[in-house]
Amino acid sequence: MSTSHTPDYSALLAELAALLDGQRDVIANAANMSALLRERLADVNWVGFYFVRTGELIVGPFQGRPACARIALGQGVCGTAAARGRTVVVPDVHAFPGHIACDDRSRSEIVVPLVVQGRVVGVLDVDSPLRDRFSQQDCWGLEQLVSVFLRATDVTQLEPIGPGIAPQE
Ligand code: SME
Repeated sequence: MSTSHTPDYSALLAELAALLDGQRDVIANAANMSALLRERLADVNWVGFYFVRTGELIVGPFQGRPACARIALGQGVCGTAAARGRTVVVPDVHAFPGHIACDDRSRSEIVVPLVVQGRVVGVLDVDSPLRDRFSQQDCWGLEQLVSVFLRATDVTQLEPIGPGIAPQE
Protein backbone atom coordinates (compact mmCIF):
# COMPACT_ATOMS: atom_id res chain seq x y z
CA MET A 1 0.00 0.00 0.00
CA SER A 2 1.18 3.50 -0.71
CA THR A 3 2.78 5.24 2.24
CA SER A 4 0.92 8.42 1.28
CA HIS A 5 -1.81 7.29 3.67
CA THR A 6 0.59 6.75 6.53
CA PRO A 7 0.43 9.42 9.22
CA ASP A 8 3.38 10.42 11.37
CA TYR A 9 2.69 7.82 14.04
CA SER A 10 5.29 9.25 16.43
CA ALA A 11 3.45 12.57 16.40
CA LEU A 12 0.08 10.85 16.62
CA LEU A 13 1.19 8.77 19.63
CA ALA A 14 2.30 11.95 21.41
CA GLU A 15 -0.95 13.69 20.47
CA LEU A 16 -3.05 10.82 21.81
CA ALA A 17 -1.05 10.66 25.04
CA ALA A 18 -1.58 14.40 25.54
CA LEU A 19 -5.28 14.12 24.72
CA LEU A 20 -5.84 11.35 27.26
CA ASP A 21 -3.56 12.83 29.92
CA GLY A 22 -5.40 13.27 33.22
CA GLN A 23 -8.47 11.33 32.11
CA ARG A 24 -8.85 7.69 33.12
CA ASP A 25 -12.46 7.03 32.16
CA VAL A 26 -12.81 4.34 29.50
CA ILE A 27 -15.79 5.89 27.70
CA ALA A 28 -14.23 9.36 27.64
CA ASN A 29 -10.92 8.04 26.35
CA ALA A 30 -12.46 5.71 23.77
CA ALA A 31 -14.65 8.55 22.48
CA ASN A 32 -11.75 10.99 22.21
CA MET A 33 -9.44 8.45 20.62
CA SER A 34 -12.07 7.60 18.01
CA ALA A 35 -12.52 11.28 17.20
CA LEU A 36 -8.76 11.88 16.98
CA LEU A 37 -8.21 8.93 14.64
CA ARG A 38 -11.16 9.93 12.46
CA GLU A 39 -9.47 13.33 12.05
CA ARG A 40 -5.89 12.14 11.58
CA LEU A 41 -6.21 8.98 9.45
CA ALA A 42 -6.73 9.51 5.73
CA ASP A 43 -9.39 7.55 3.87
CA VAL A 44 -11.24 5.95 6.75
CA ASN A 45 -15.03 5.80 7.09
CA TRP A 46 -15.42 4.15 10.51
CA VAL A 47 -13.24 4.22 13.62
CA GLY A 48 -14.31 2.88 16.97
CA PHE A 49 -14.42 0.36 19.75
CA TYR A 50 -16.24 -2.82 20.63
CA PHE A 51 -16.01 -4.09 24.21
CA VAL A 52 -16.48 -7.64 25.48
CA ARG A 53 -19.65 -7.88 27.52
CA THR A 54 -21.48 -11.03 28.58
CA GLY A 55 -19.52 -13.11 26.11
CA GLU A 56 -19.94 -11.01 22.98
CA LEU A 57 -18.71 -7.73 21.52
CA ILE A 58 -20.91 -4.69 22.13
CA VAL A 59 -20.31 -1.47 20.22
CA GLY A 60 -18.65 1.35 22.16
CA PRO A 61 -17.70 4.91 21.24
CA PHE A 62 -17.10 5.37 17.52
CA GLN A 63 -17.06 7.79 14.61
CA GLY A 64 -18.92 6.84 11.48
CA ARG A 65 -22.25 5.48 10.37
CA PRO A 66 -24.41 3.60 12.87
CA ALA A 67 -22.99 0.10 13.31
CA CYS A 68 -24.13 -3.34 14.38
CA ALA A 69 -24.48 -3.29 18.14
CA ARG A 70 -23.46 -6.89 18.82
CA ILE A 71 -20.89 -9.21 17.27
CA ALA A 72 -20.35 -12.77 18.44
CA LEU A 73 -16.80 -13.76 19.36
CA GLY A 74 -15.28 -15.49 16.36
CA GLN A 75 -17.67 -13.77 13.94
CA GLY A 76 -16.70 -11.11 11.41
CA VAL A 77 -13.35 -9.34 11.45
CA CYS A 78 -13.90 -7.93 14.94
CA GLY A 79 -14.93 -11.22 16.48
CA THR A 80 -12.03 -12.98 14.76
CA ALA A 81 -9.46 -10.50 16.12
CA ALA A 82 -11.01 -10.77 19.59
CA ALA A 83 -10.98 -14.57 19.51
CA ARG A 84 -7.38 -14.70 18.26
CA GLY A 85 -6.10 -11.92 20.50
CA ARG A 86 -4.17 -10.65 17.50
CA THR A 87 -4.50 -7.85 15.00
CA VAL A 88 -6.36 -8.80 11.81
CA VAL A 89 -5.75 -6.83 8.61
CA VAL A 90 -8.23 -7.43 5.78
CA PRO A 91 -7.12 -5.92 2.45
CA ASP A 92 -10.46 -6.76 0.79
CA VAL A 93 -13.46 -7.26 3.04
CA HIS A 94 -15.36 -8.98 0.23
CA ALA A 95 -12.76 -11.75 0.30
CA PHE A 96 -13.04 -12.27 4.09
CA PRO A 97 -15.52 -15.03 4.87
CA GLY A 98 -18.05 -13.84 7.40
CA HIS A 99 -17.22 -10.16 7.12
CA ILE A 100 -20.04 -8.13 8.70
CA ALA A 101 -20.95 -5.20 6.47
CA CYS A 102 -22.07 -2.42 8.80
CA ASP A 103 -21.18 0.25 6.25
CA ASP A 104 -21.33 -0.86 2.62
CA ARG A 105 -18.66 1.71 1.70
CA SER A 106 -16.02 -0.28 3.61
CA ARG A 107 -13.50 -2.08 1.40
CA SER A 108 -10.64 -2.81 3.80
CA GLU A 109 -10.40 -3.07 7.54
CA ILE A 110 -8.01 -3.46 10.48
CA VAL A 111 -8.99 -4.67 13.93
CA VAL A 112 -6.61 -4.43 16.90
CA PRO A 113 -7.54 -6.34 20.07
CA LEU A 114 -7.42 -4.65 23.48
CA VAL A 115 -5.40 -7.07 25.58
CA VAL A 116 -5.19 -6.50 29.34
CA GLN A 117 -3.11 -8.91 31.38
CA GLY A 118 -3.34 -11.51 28.64
CA ARG A 119 -7.09 -11.19 28.21
CA VAL A 120 -9.08 -9.55 25.45
CA VAL A 121 -11.49 -6.92 26.69
CA GLY A 122 -12.40 -5.36 23.36
CA VAL A 123 -11.17 -4.27 19.95
CA LEU A 124 -10.36 -1.10 18.02
CA ASP A 125 -11.87 -1.31 14.52
CA VAL A 126 -10.92 0.94 11.58
CA ASP A 127 -12.60 0.70 8.18
CA SER A 128 -11.60 2.28 4.87
CA PRO A 129 -13.47 2.78 1.61
CA LEU A 130 -10.22 1.91 -0.21
CA ARG A 131 -9.00 -1.61 -0.89
CA ASP A 132 -5.71 -2.50 0.79
CA ARG A 133 -5.64 0.70 2.81
CA PHE A 134 -3.76 -0.62 5.86
CA SER A 135 -0.01 -1.25 5.70
CA GLN A 136 2.34 -2.91 8.16
CA GLN A 137 3.16 0.58 9.39
CA ASP A 138 -0.51 1.18 10.14
CA CYS A 139 -0.65 -2.15 11.93
CA TRP A 140 2.33 -1.19 14.11
CA GLY A 141 1.07 2.37 14.63
CA LEU A 142 -2.45 1.37 15.62
CA GLU A 143 -1.14 -1.29 18.01
CA GLN A 144 1.06 1.36 19.65
CA LEU A 145 -1.91 3.73 19.87
CA VAL A 146 -3.96 1.01 21.55
CA SER A 147 -1.11 0.54 24.05
CA VAL A 148 -1.20 4.27 24.84
CA PHE A 149 -4.98 4.03 25.32
CA LEU A 150 -4.68 1.05 27.66
CA ARG A 151 -1.93 2.69 29.74
CA ALA A 152 -3.87 5.95 30.03
CA THR A 153 -7.19 4.36 30.89
CA ASP A 154 -8.51 2.83 34.09
CA VAL A 155 -8.90 -0.62 32.65
CA THR A 156 -10.49 -1.91 35.84
CA GLN A 157 -13.56 -0.13 34.49
CA LEU A 158 -13.56 -2.78 31.80
CA GLU A 159 -13.99 -5.61 34.29
CA PRO A 160 -17.76 -5.18 34.57
CA ILE A 161 -17.83 -5.55 30.81
CA GLY A 162 -16.61 -9.08 31.25
CA PRO A 163 -13.58 -11.09 32.17
CA GLY A 164 -12.43 -11.13 28.57
CA ILE A 165 -11.31 -14.25 26.83
CA ALA A 166 -7.92 -15.85 26.67
CA PRO A 167 -6.24 -15.19 23.31
CA GLN A 168 -5.85 -18.27 21.15
CA GLU A 169 -2.30 -19.36 20.43
N1 SME B 1 -16.89 -5.18 9.66
C1 SME B 1 -16.87 -5.56 11.05
C2 SME B 1 -18.13 -5.13 11.75
C3 SME B 1 -18.02 -3.84 12.45
S1 SME B 1 -18.15 -2.56 11.40
O1 SME B 1 -17.18 -2.60 10.37
C4 SME B 1 -18.18 -1.14 12.20
C5 SME B 1 -16.68 -7.06 11.19
O2 SME B 1 -16.71 -7.77 10.19
O3 SME B 1 -16.50 -7.52 12.32
